[in-house]
Amino acid sequence: MERTLAGRDRANRMFDAYGALLTAQQQHLLRRYYQDDLSLGEIAADLRVTRQAVHDGLRRALVAMERLEGALGLAARQDHYSTPAPRSTPKTREQRVELRGRVWAFQSVSGVFAHRRFDAGTHLLIDAIEVRRDDRILDLGCGYGAVGLVAAALATRGRVWLVDLNRRAAWMAHVNAAAHGLTNVCVLVGDGAAPFRDGSVDLVVTNPPIRAGRRVVTEFIEGAWRVLRPGGRFYMVVRTAQGALTLARLVAGRFGEARQVRAAEGYRVYEARRKHDAKAKVIVGV
Ligand SMILES: C[S@@+](CC[C@H](N)C(=O)[O-])C[C@H]1O[C@@H](n2cnc3c(N)ncnc32)[C@H](O)[C@@H]1O
Repeated sequence: MERTLAGRDRANRMFDAYGALLTAQQQHLLRRYYQDDLSLGEIAADLRVTRQAVHDGLRRALVAMERLEGALGLAARQDHYSTPAPRSTPKTREQRVELRGRVWAFQSVSGVFAHRRFDAGTHLLIDAIEVRRDDRILDLGCGYGAVGLVAAALATRGRVWLVDLNRRAAWMAHVNAAAHGLTNVCVLVGDGAAPFRDGSVDLVVTNPPIRAGRRVVTEFIEGAWRVLRPGGRFYMVVRTAQGALTLARLVAGRFGEARQVRAAEGYRVYEARRKHDAKAKVIVGV
């Protein structure tokens, strides 16, 4: 039951393809182990069963999925969106959606998050964010760009950096920025907040890649805190069933607060502000 990047990626792809065919208990175990990054012992304590029972349950779920994959091969054909270079042939489609009083026509593409249907969590996050005209904004894990581009339209005197590790996503975000005539944006291929300097932005927004595992999401939260100036704001949307409360605790652990500002359709949006403290370093510009 490998939890290396490759092992997790394979388990998650199979779960996307066959999860609905597993028992509710197997689905729960796979989510807790591969998406929430809990240890066997933690899951066992949660469920009040033995560690061995969790191990055996997970193993049976993986064997069942491997059997289905052997017969149907669906997982091998689908790209997971958190990959630097999707292998599938890119197929674009248009998604029209009204956001903050304006109709947007985004091009989405296969191999990128939510390419078939506009994501309800993305929608809720866009509705919730408070954007000021001169904000410097970072959209962490931008996908094809919806959150960052709406923010760019609101920050008319500011600037937005959109970052994704998936090259195809970054390419689409760039295409969408150009199609909407947004010139105050910069799209980067990169790993989380790594390319940005400490204290260099006013606002970080993210719909984090839960399926990439707890380590990546924790790095997003830590990275957001680091690049925000003191007083800067952080918004994050998470599906309630994908450990929203646990992630809110992680945000609170780093920022000292995590206020739920929206909840709808099984998603929650949290807001946190980086505290003004004497030790914080402020470097203006990126
Ligand atoms: C849940 S999707 C959200 C996409 C977009 N913000 C939206 O709401 O439609 C998370 C995104 O994070 C990206 N991602 C995963 N790991 C990353 C990393 N280490 N650095 C940057 N982006 C990453 C994925 O490729 C994916 O596009």
